[in-house]
Amino acid sequence: MNRDKFGYDIDPWGSAEVKDYRFLMEKFGIQPFEKFKKLFEDNLYVRRGIIFGHRDFDKIIDAIKKKEKFFMITGLMPSGKFHLGHKMVADQMVFYQKLGAKIFICSADIEAYLMRNMDLEMCRRITAEEYLANYMALGLDLKKINFWFQSNYRVEYYRFRDQLSKKVTLNELRAIYGDISPAKIISVLSQCADILHPQLPELLGPSPSVVPVGPDQDPHIRLTRDLASRFQTEFRLILPAATYHKFMRGLDGGKMSSSKPSSYIALSDKPKEAIQKIMNAITGGRATVSEQRDLGGVPEKCAVYDLYFYHLVEDDKKLVEIYHDCRSGNLICGECKAKCSDLMAKFLDKHQKKLSAAKEKVEEFLEEKNYNEKR
Ligand code: TRP
Ligand code: SF4
Repeated sequence: MNRDKFGYDIDPWGSAEVKDYRFLMEKFGIQPFEKFKKLFEDNLYVRRGIIFGHRDFDKIIDAIKKKEKFFMITGLMPSGKFHLGHKMVADQMVFYQKLGAKIFICSADIEAYLMRNMDLEMCRRITAEEYLANYMALGLDLKKINFWFQSNYRVEYYRFRDQLSKKVTLNELRAIYGDISPAKIISVLSQCADILHPQLPELLGPSPSVVPVGPDQDPHIRLTRDLASRFQTEFRLILPAATYHKFMRGLDGGKMSSSKPSSYIALSDKPKEAIQKIMNAITGGRATVSEQRDLGGVPEKCAVYDLYFYHLVEDDKKLVEIYHDCRSGNLICGECKAKCSDLMAKFLDKHQKKLSAAKEKVEEFLEEKNYNEKR
């Protein structure tokens, strides 16, 4: 690996945070995703190493090769705006749906109610208007997904969630989650049930599955896999596979967080608002223009570069060009932010046209499936 005079790796695909992920992988045994890269070259998140790790993904490759059924399962947290971080998971749903996977998606409204003080009616609205509408606008075919609210679902799910409690101890939960409370226990077991219940005999039966997550969800994945193995004689569950993606950095330099609007761009932000956020974003630029001309910028530290890298620039050649223009001092942050704003505004304009059409369809979707019944 080449390094520049400041000690940074020169690598358009690298990220300053890569070391943190390496630590996580070693500590918890997440495997590198590298060996599957060639199979999914057309997927931006794979190609650029954003999906960096996995557990048991060989099972999914096997299923794809043998044309056997498998499913992808994920849960959405209905407590705020749908932003670019959430788009990463949505894009993966679309990817797996095109690959022929069955798609299971739950609204974690009980978790939001228990852990984030949300009321269920608000959760329902956010689920529909923010999440499902954006999924649809990003290309997910809602007609083909299996969707549920944690608060309002079939009896097999609740029976199974209760059964799960038999094979886990409080000490074990404490070791994984620290402080534990009744609300946390219900949230955690709900998530395990979300991931495993599609394998119950009333649904698909034992099948390979994959959960695309950020590394913060790994404790849930480990517990879910342990529980699956403890119920072998009863349910013959296949341990779920998981993939792990890197997080984009927040625009303000901290974590991207739903509770901090300046840290994210929501897919419903007006282009003007989004541009304002880009203008205020932290960059890897130097203190003065002349310094930047001399020394070049540091894309590895730049939230604007992240926007190109994760979302706005599909074409690798163009991305590499931006990278080198930044490093060489040819590109100045002002100019670069203007270019990024332009791409973002175009993306949002186009997306929001689809979004308003999708919102109506989502209401029909929920109506048809009787998700509006009084709870
Ligand atoms: N706990 C997840 C979050 O905070 C939401 C979630 C609920 C989930 N059930 C799931 C994620 C099943 C993956 C799979 O976002
Ligand atoms: Fe970031 Fe662009 Fe500035 Fe480089 S020139 S540091 S990529 S904003």
